[in-house]
Amino acid sequence: MSLLITYIKSLLGTEYEPVPFVSGKEMGRLSSFENAWLLLHEGKIEDFGTMKELDRKAFHGQFFQLKEIAANGKLVMPAFCDSHTHLVYAGSREVEYMDRIRGLSYEEIAKRGGGILNSAALLQATPEDELYEQSLSRVREIMRQGTGAVEIKSGYGLTTEAELKMLRVIRKLKETSPLDIKATFLGAHSIPLAYREDPDSYVDLVVGEMIPAVAGDGLADFIDVFCERGFFTVPQTERILEAGIANGLHPKIHANELDFSGGIQTGVKYRALSVDHLEYTGDEEIQCLLGSGTMPTLLPGASFFLGLKYAPAREMIKAGLPVALASDFNPGSSPSGDMKFIMSLGCIKLRMLPEEVLHAVTINTAYAMGLQETHGTICRGKKANLIITKEIPGLAYLPYAYGSDLIDTVILGGEIVRHSLSA
Ligand code: NIG
Ligand code: FE
Repeated sequence: MSLLITYIKSLLGTEYEPVPFVSGKEMGRLSSFENAWLLLHEGKIEDFGTMKELDRKAFHGQFFQLKEIAANGKLVMPAFCDSHTHLVYAGSREVEYMDRIRGLSYEEIAKRGGGILNSAALLQATPEDELYEQSLSRVREIMRQGTGAVEIKSGYGLTTEAELKMLRVIRKLKETSPLDIKATFLGAHSIPLAYREDPDSYVDLVVGEMIPAVAGDGLADFIDVFCERGFFTVPQTERILEAGIANGLHPKIHANELDFSGGIQTGVKYRALSVDHLEYTGDEEIQCLLGSGTMPTLLPGASFFLGLKYAPAREMIKAGLPVALASDFNPGSSPSGDMKFIMSLGCIKLRMLPEEVLHAVTINTAYAMGLQETHGTICRGKKANLIITKEIPGLAYLPYAYGSDLIDTVILGGEIVRHSLSA
């Protein structure tokens, strides 16, 4: 089937010469077409232009079964790419949420064996089918919220068996949902209580048993480590990344969320595709990231939910870095995968402009998943993953009206997967 979308108020994020990501000042310059059309064919973007130049008759002759939809007053933009989530998990953690409201910190909860270990105990006891069903409903939710490509991490298993179970669930989600999914092995998410006296022996297990098993079954694309005070040290992170790389997994790491952990430098040293969180980023870290090819990825949902400080996005952009924004969808520090809300946090809390934020949740997160050649912009030949908004005044209205559902239609691979009946 081919689809022609006409009378688009603004077609946002267009490009003719694909770039892998957008940095610095360029983040504020968004290419767009006003009063535009967009043609989709066989799941891909075929062409686009302005209504003035549209030769509809030629298209109808050329494309069999051409369906036309009018998008008067609406914006069309690339679907969100969410490059950092933990959306495969069992149950929820609102009891700890209440503990935090009463005054305990995230780190205190983790130290007493709650937090990630709490989710791990529940996940280990949850049958694989049940885990898949719970996770599928989250995938469906983010799809309706406009996400077209998502990275999902393991890391709530923390035994070889349970980590493999999580990764098989991610593989099944890949096979059964229209979203594009990348899988990350995060066995080094937390140190299980049994290993607290000798954390290196847990690292031995990750390196010696888990990584070969994961790679042997082809279950992951990337390797991640929670390189943080109270979790994994820089030397432990290096051992794990080296083992992952030797097994064909590309690094993407959690760094500098709770302190200056050295994680950013470690990520750059091992050519990580991205380093994520980065609440603690100073000049040294910024200099290290410049020109590195490692995407600084900020997760403002976690700062918001935990009441922690926000990453210095403005300083990064001013220094010429690219910035990506992802949801971190997980039960402990960010129980939402709503990327439109992440856009709002980008504007309100990180003081990014709407144009910068749009690049940060599309092409820059596509790069952070290795999907920049097929996702993240409106470009001929890229996958037809799109959002059509409701009738709104312009791009800035999306992050401004932070609680409103402004998505009218979601198209993934050229197929309409969500359509609101409202105008
Ligand atoms: O990215 N930081 C490590 N992992 C998650 C939190 C996981 C949890 O608390 O369950 C994060 O914030
Ligand atoms: Fe995370």
